[in-house]
Parts: sequence; structure tokens; C-alpha cells
Amino acid sequence: MKSLLILGLIFIFALGNQVHGQDKLEQLSYSIQTEWNGEPIKHRPTNITLFVNSDGLLTFDFDATFFNSSNPETNLVVQAHCPQRPGREIENYEIVEAFFLNDAGDYYQIEVASNGQYLSSIYSGYRKELLSHLPMYGVEPVVENPCYGPVTEDECVWTTRVTIPKEFLPKDVTKFNAFGVHGEFVDGERVTHSEALYPVGEDIKEPDFHHLEAFKEIDLASIGYLTSEESELWTQAKSEEQFITRDFNLTHSFDCLKAKSEDSIFHTERQEDHLKLNVTIKNTSSYKANIPESLQSAGTTEELFSNLHESAWVTFSNAEGQSLRVGLNPYGAYQISLLSQGEVKSNIVLEQPVECGSFEQLSWSCQLKISNDLFPKNFTRFQMVHYHSPLFNETGEREPENEIIAALCPGTLEGSEREVDWVGCLADHRFFVNQATNDVVSETWAALTTETTNTTNSETTESASPTEAPEADAN
Ligand SMILES: *[C@@H]1O[C@H](CO)[C@@H](O)[C@H](O)[C@H]1NC(C)=O
Ligand SMILES: *[C@@H]1O[C@H](CO)[C@@H](O)[C@H](O)[C@H]1NC(C)=O
Ligand SMILES: *[C@@H]1O[C@H](CO)[C@@H](O)[C@H](O)[C@H]1NC(C)=O
Ligand SMILES: *[C@@H]1O[C@H](CO)[C@@H](O)[C@H](O)[C@H]1NC(C)=O
Ligand SMILES: *[C@@H]1O[C@H](CO)[C@@H](O)[C@H](O)[C@H]1NC(C)=O
Ligand SMILES: *[C@@H]1O[C@H](CO)[C@@H](O)[C@H](O)[C@H]1NC(C)=O
Ligand SMILES: *[C@@H]1O[C@H](CO)[C@@H](O)[C@H](O)[C@H]1NC(C)=O
Ligand SMILES: *[C@@H]1O[C@H](CO)[C@@H](O)[C@H](O)[C@H]1NC(C)=O
Repeated sequence: MKSLLILGLIFIFALGNQVHGQDKLEQLSYSIQTEWNGEPIKHRPTNITLFVNSDGLLTFDFDATFFNSSNPETNLVVQAHCPQRPGREIENYEIVEAFFLNDAGDYYQIEVASNGQYLSSIYSGYRKELLSHLPMYGVEPVVENPCYGPVTEDECVWTTRVTIPKEFLPKDVTKFNAFGVHGEFVDGERVTHSEALYPVGEDIKEPDFHHLEAFKEIDLASIGYLTSEESELWTQAKSEEQFITRDFNLTHSFDCLKAKSEDSIFHTERQEDHLKLNVTIKNTSSYKANIPESLQSAGTTEELFSNLHESAWVTFSNAEGQSLRVGLNPYGAYQISLLSQGEVKSNIVLEQPVECGSFEQLSWSCQLKISNDLFPKNFTRFQMVHYHSPLFNETGEREPENEIIAALCPGTLEGSEREVDWVGCLADHRFFVNQATNDVVSETWAALTTETTNTTNSETTESASPTEAPEADAN
């Protein structure tokens, strides 16, 4: 009886696999054969295959000829074992990109560079960007590029797999287009090539990848993918207030050397005049964090960052090296600092205390409100860190094996030691604050900067700040 059951299970498994196997055969294939204006290209074409993966997500693979023309300035925080990061200004260098459009004019754009960087954005209407730098933490495009290093053949090929989170696609996708951009040196001059699956008509004189009239029908249902419901992300992004809520799940250690088993969820809710942050850590191991007594009471402390123990951190930074760093621990102790060039300029006392649930060893949950006034102007980067260290076992001995410093945006700062990058990845401020807040210097920051007018070299802490890219922009 038992063996019959097992046989039956094996049969069902085999059947399941077969179904997946068949699914994979159902794919849509494209080949980019022309320049943006319809002229034929002169190298092996970029090939794109769309299919639904075993998790039911829309996936595409592409292979593209390598031209070694990625933005050289945007490759600063790479570690071999960490996934690549969202890139700034990648679009004028060497990328392949795809657009998914619906009849209402809503569309999703994903660009992937040959150095592994990516950029994901949503729009509602021609170039009307709702959100950019959509976080793809944990589902980053996987770029295989064997072409760096000694050149062995004339045309080397890089390949990529992109898995698109369901919530990024607009509802009822009906149209598609895909593009490639690369540079080439012709008689010492750099020439940018913009290629299109579906080129524009003769009436268009400049490359414009957002020329939606050029897009053509795609039937995603034919490969078993339905997009009939609008995702919460789209609904929030399109609404007047854009009160966007997110759950960020930290899955890597900051240096990508450890995977995480416990849950560290940072929940954010953009509100009118503040950002609500709720940190929930779930870990039921018997280890102890031995948080020092000085950090065992609710309220502000100037020791939370200098004496790191079990705690959660969020930072928002701008290109001038100004940042807001918010840290809290299970007891409701917090340290909210405004920093300039990595130096604390001010610690903030909250009007409302941090609210925490009851704290059982390593499972805890706290929430607080971060006033809009505390955000540095024009911030472009953010990071979330769960400090799960030091840990001690029942006999009071340190258990470094089980300790982890998790980061949402993994990758370390370069240097002699592997250090946590507190600045983090490019992000769209609209996930956290409104445009008006981000555009101006707040009163709190204004008061701070008049006290310290002598700001010096802004390059020092923002080591990940890339230089400007050329202007021309079809993207
Ligand atoms: C794309 O597919 C065509 C036809 O199979 C092939 O000749 C070409 O080499 C492929 N392109 C790349 C970049 O691999
Ligand atoms: C790519 O370009 C860089 C700098 O432009 C150069 O140093 C490198 O040798 C090139 N690599 C290949 C494979 O051509
Ligand atoms: C967070 O990520 C971990 C590891 O990938 C996963 O096991 C867990 O289910 C995720 N939690 C939530 C709430 O999404
Ligand atoms: C809790 O964290 C410890 C140390 O990081 C880890 O070894 C353990 O597997 C985690 N327990 C659970 C239930 O996630
Ligand atoms: C934070 O959110 C979690 C999950 O929604 C909830 O269970 C918890 O009570 C919240 N924490 C606080 C302190 O409000
Ligand atoms: C505590 O950790 C030490 C060092 O790793 C180990 O020798 C000891 O057996 C551990 N004790 C328990 C109760 O796990
Ligand atoms: C923020 O950036 C926007 C757009 O680049 C610019 O117009 C504005 O002046 C900047 N604000 C400040 C305070 O620098
Ligand atoms: C800025 O620093 C320089 C040299 O340290 C000093 O001479 C100058 O007076 C300072 N300016 C202000 C406005 O504080």
C-alpha cells in the first residue's frame, strides 16, 4: 500500500516535470535585425526568448554580441559572488532592453547592461515615469559575460536571464518591443548604435525607444502567462498620493558569503508627511544577543552605531554625501543621525517613541515614523541592514558561525577589509517620500548646513557616485 502511494507520488512528480518541460517549449522568440530606423545591422543579431518559468514568472533569455562599451564609471562596488546592482546612466552604453505595453499606455521597461547592471522602470503614458529603479533584490538579472579578459574570437557573445516580478508588469500586456544599444569605435570615433526589434517609421528622425506606435502585438497567453490583474504596486504608483508600501526581505549577508535562514522584513509605508517603518525579525534559535545594559532601554542613544549589537538600520543618501541613518533595536533604543561625508552632524530625538512588540530572544518587531524633514535633499541611494551579531550560545560562548550582517543591497566597499556599504544601491525616492519633499533642502537640513558651511570634497564617502553620461538618450 505504502509503496503504491510512493509510486503514485513519483508518477505525479514525473508528470509535473513533463508539464514544466512542455511549458518551456512554449516560447516566443525574437531576433533584433535592424537599427532603430530599419536599416539592417552588421553583426550577429541579439536573440530573445520569452517563456514562463517553473514559478510561473515571465522570463526572458537573450544572447548579444559583446562590444565592450559598458559605462566604465558604473562598475565600482562589484564582488564576484554578489549580484550586480541597479546602474545609473547605463542606457547610453551597452544594453539590451525590453518593453511591455498595454492598451491603456502603461508600460514596463527593463534594461540590462553587459557588465551586469540593470534598470527597471514603469510608465503610464509616453515617457511619463511613475517609478524607476524598481528593486529587483533577490531576482536580479543573471548576466553571463565570458568576454572580458583576453579576446579569443572576433565576436564574443554575452547571455542573460531576466525574471520579471509579477507586480512590475502592467495589466493586460498587448504589445512588445526590444532594443539593443552599443558603442563601436570607427576610425577612432565612438559611434553609438541603437537597434530595434520593431523600428520606427520614416517620420521619426531620432532614436526614441518610447515611440509606442512602433510596438507590435504580443500574446503572452500563448505561452501560458496572464496579466489580467493590476498589481498593488501599479495601483499605488498611479494614484494621486502614491502612498507606496513595500516589504523588503533581506536574504544575503552584506558580502554575499552567507545565505539567511531567518526572516528580516523591513516594511515601509509612504505617508503624507512621514515614512512609516516597521521592522520584523523572526528567528527562534536559542542563541542570545547579549545586548549591553546601556542599550536595553527605549529612547535615543548615541551608542547604537558605535557599539553594534542586534539591530536594524536604514540609510538614505544623496550624491553630496549627506545621509539619514535610522537604527533601532528590540528594546526600542534608537539612533537617528544626519550625516555629512560619513560624519554624524546631529542625532534626532523623536516626538513619538519607537513602538516595539514583546521581545523574545531573536524574534522582535518595532515600528517608527520618520518625518519627511529628516531626509536629505535629492537622495538617490538607500540601504537596509540587519545586524544579527554578536551571538552567544547557551554556555555563553560566541557563535560566529551563526552570526550574520544582512544587507538588502549586498556588495562591500572596496578596501583592505570587507566593510558594510551603508550607502547602498540606487533607489527611487518616490518609494519613500513625495517629489516636493525630495526637491528641497528641509528646515532641519538647512539649520544643519548653516552651522557647517565648510563642506569639502563630496567624493569621499559617495565612492559609488558615477560621473555623468553623454546626453543623447533614446531610452
Ligand atoms: C542569434 O540567432 C541566429 C540564428 O540562430 C544566430 O546565427 C546568431 O549567431 C545568434 N546571435 C547571437 C548573438 O548569438
Ligand atoms: C574592454 O575595454 C577596456 C577599457 O576600455 C579595455 O581595457 C579592455 O582590454 C577591453 N576588453 C576587451 C575584451 O576588449
Ligand atoms: C524572505 O526570504 C526568505 C529567504 O529567501 C524566505 O524563506 C522567506 O519566505 C521570505 N519571507 C517573506 C515574508 O517573504
Ligand atoms: C536563527 O538564526 C540562526 C543564526 O543566524 C540560524 O542558525 C538559525 O537557523 C535561525 N533559525 C531560524 C528558525 O530561522
Ligand atoms: C509590524 O508589522 C508586523 C506585521 O505586519 C506586525 O505583526 C507587528 O505588530 C508590527 N509591529 C509593530 C511594533 O507595530
Ligand atoms: C558553545 O560554543 C562553543 C564554541 O563554539 C562550543 O564549544 C560549545 O559546545 C557550545 N555550547 C553549546 C551548549 O552549544
Ligand atoms: C534636486 O534635483 C532636481 C532635479 O535634478 C533639481 O531641479 C533641484 O534643484 C535639486 N534640489 C536641490 C535642493 O538641490
Ligand atoms: C573654511 O575652512 C577654512 C580652512 O579650514 C577657513 O579658513 C575658513 O574660514 C572656513 N570658512 C568658513 C565659512 O567657516
